[in-house]
Amino acid sequence: MSETKLEKARAYEEAAGSTVPADLRPRYHLSSRCGWMNDPNGFSFYGGKYHMFYQYYPYENKWGPMHWAHAASADLLHWEYLPAILAPEEFYDSFGCFSGSCETLPDGRHFALYTGVANDPSDFGPAGLQTQNIAVGDGVNYVKYEGNPVITPAMLPEGSSFIDFRDPKVWKCKDGSMRCVIAAMDKNGYGMIVLFSSEDGFKWKFEDVLAHDPEPAMWECPDMFELDGTGLFLTSQLRVFLQGSVREKDCRTMYFVGETGDEMSYFKFDETSARPIDLGLDFYAPQTMVTPDGRRIMIGWMQNWESLGNRLPGLPWYGQMTAPREIHVRDGNLIQNPARELLALRGEKTEHRDVEISGKAKLEGLDGRFADIELTLREIPGKNLDRFRMNLLDDGKNRVSVIFTPSENKMVVERVFPEFGKTKITQRKGTVAMKDGKLDLRILLDRFSAEVFANNGEAVFTTCMYTESGDGVSFKVDGSCCVDVVKYDMK
Ligand code: FRU
Repeated sequence: MSETKLEKARAYEEAAGSTVPADLRPRYHLSSRCGWMNDPNGFSFYGGKYHMFYQYYPYENKWGPMHWAHAASADLLHWEYLPAILAPEEFYDSFGCFSGSCETLPDGRHFALYTGVANDPSDFGPAGLQTQNIAVGDGVNYVKYEGNPVITPAMLPEGSSFIDFRDPKVWKCKDGSMRCVIAAMDKNGYGMIVLFSSEDGFKWKFEDVLAHDPEPAMWECPDMFELDGTGLFLTSQLRVFLQGSVREKDCRTMYFVGETGDEMSYFKFDETSARPIDLGLDFYAPQTMVTPDGRRIMIGWMQNWESLGNRLPGLPWYGQMTAPREIHVRDGNLIQNPARELLALRGEKTEHRDVEISGKAKLEGLDGRFADIELTLREIPGKNLDRFRMNLLDDGKNRVSVIFTPSENKMVVERVFPEFGKTKITQRKGTVAMKDGKLDLRILLDRFSAEVFANNGEAVFTTCMYTESGDGVSFKVDGSCCVDVVKYDMK
């Protein structure tokens, strides 16, 4: 028998992935085994381990016919690559096995619900180009269900698109039945989120349209759950528009809070109440899961469709995931903090207390490219603080800067990377205010990224930096301020 596409991918990644030296990878973020990575898929706990699958094209550092890669971990930080589980080889997924999610079936098998994209609409005729499909496995090998596709656009209300219909996020109810939300679109290009239900995971029924965007956009990768007594809905919104004759993309990750029924049997939220999940330059398509001890953890693709030109030539892989974040809802706001597992990576400690900074400054021992930094900034009575700037991953030419302007309650994260000319967007801003006269920052640095958590997780700014070196940490303060800084080297 000739080699299947999955066998070919498994043989290829085994050879190509094992040649990547550890110092060409981030230290504690998951990166693509080889080739290309985008969205996290099927993030779940199964058989005593965390499983992370992801959108994957093993053969090149660019998007191609999507496979599902696989990694497993005991602590969400040290990931072991396992063989890819899905390749695009059936009539309903020959263009790609797009994003989806996992649950455990009542009989103990691992269940993946993913979007198959057919190569040609004529493969399907009126059933649609993007359909939802099942693969069932044991944590290593997965078999596509012979009854695929199980959800098709023909099951959607009149007026729905037969082309854009993807990214099912599934959850299991207490009685073993399942529900899922899926991104859909109407025929005019306005995004919709739809809810489906199933007694057994295999036969699905359309329930409701939960959201309908008043503007043209695709709401990709929905996720929906109850957290701290509040209904939360997450989505990544992709708008494609013409700038002159060039097709541009605008990517935003948004969350909504709302009223929900038991086990998310319904969800009512105000579509205009959207707020950004992450305010940085590189964050998209997050997925959440619940740990055995009941914490809701979120991991996102640490990249987005606008910023793909940002890369280091010669790297044998492209695409990373964010660090795991523990999420909560406080006063109707999404709160994100690094998962407590990260504390175990903390090594040598450098500490400075009550240091007054005015103008440019460096503090002894603060430089580092692998660090977990806690910083508290205070105003000094009787002195002005106009602007606070902290430079990270600085190699003299390239850097990531965090700029805080207290009078405007504004924080900006900026990527200064002159060689990376293609990216038009180099900074993003968000509302961040001092609380009780101080600002708290927690910053996770790894070889190619900076994740900045402000005010105990009220605002997060995630940004990649694909340079070879650069570990400078420095300050520039217009006016003066006082800081406490504790830095831990990350193992
Ligand atoms: C989001 C996305 C999904 C799709 C996948 C394809 O980043 O566009 O909607 O399933 O990527 O790789």
